[in-house]
Amino acid sequence: ISKIGVLTSGGDAPGMNPCIRAVVRTALYNGLEVVGIKQGYKGMIENDMYPMQARSVSNILNLGGTILKTARCLPFRTDEGQEAAYQNIKAQGIDGLVVIGGDGTFTGALRFSQKYPDIAVIGIPGTIDNDLYGSTYTLGFDTATNTVIEAIDKIRDTADSHDRLFFVEVMGRDSGAIALRAGISCGAEAILLPEKSTAIDELIRHLKAGESKKKSSSIVIVAEGDKSGGIYDLAKAVQKEVTNYDIKVAVLGHLQRGGAPSSFDRVLGSRMGYAAVNALIAGESQKMVGLEANHIKLTPLSEALSHHDFKLEADLLQMVEVLSI
Ligand code: F6P
Repeated sequence: ISKIGVLTSGGDAPGMNPCIRAVVRTALYNGLEVVGIKQGYKGMIENDMYPMQARSVSNILNLGGTILKTARCLPFRTDEGQEAAYQNIKAQGIDGLVVIGGDGTFTGALRFSQKYPDIAVIGIPGTIDNDLYGSTYTLGFDTATNTVIEAIDKIRDTADSHDRLFFVEVMGRDSGAIALRAGISCGAEAILLPEKSTAIDELIRHLKAGESKKKSSSIVIVAEGDKSGGIYDLAKAVQKEVTNYDIKVAVLGHLQRGGAPSSFDRVLGSRMGYAAVNALIAGESQKMVGLEANHIKLTPLSEALSHHDFKLEADLLQMVEVLSI
């Protein structure tokens, strides 16, 4: 390996910047050149790339988002798009890629490196959704969860003042990871998750029980991937039965993706970026860098992508009911 290209792709996640910094500096430390690729695979196809130096990544540890910018790039799914990308990075002399993103990013990376095996590819799981097999935590999940907690704590103040019940929708695509942790951290009355169906009458019974126990406010967290039919309809259906509370809905949206990365995500990003470059130097390809039991681990991209049964911790799921009595 002599020249590494680094890109961020898919939804941005806090911690991507510390990760880019680690990739750039680890590569330079080892005598390699580094090229920053703008807007993910789009920059590969459109030849939007620039050489990076140690100072290109100064003072970015604290920044949310990604200095390389990101995109969800449909043309990269086509043979023509991949061929154009290949020609451009060959012309740059790039022989190794570090791609930071989620499962869509890895699907593209795997296909690309299977077609063009002379380009080694290492993936870093950068997504707030925490939904990748092969890493207990993905980059950005911790910060996003903390952002959600801060928002819900504020909602709790007003909910409690007015004796209201709030339904709060949080991100995570098909994963309930943010919802579950935020729910435990904020003392949610109930947490609706894509991984576990909750019957509406069961939810109503639970909320009515809360009313009768003189709970002054309640928070129900609804993961965006929950299959109960949408947060607004759900709130309406519950309001008909749970009459003592005034019910409000808050959809937190994209604020969950922003903000300065937490200490955890800064260290995780640095650790994964460093490990990704070392993996390329060691001759690895088509692997994802993950963190398991506090150790860096490489998982084949094909395996990381094929396990869509990413499980939430059973003890956390059981605990929710007990702690919301
Ligand atoms: O994958 C990260 C994520 O924030 C998901 O939680 C969410 O479903 C999706 O991206 C939103 O995507 P977009 O920013 O394209 O609307």
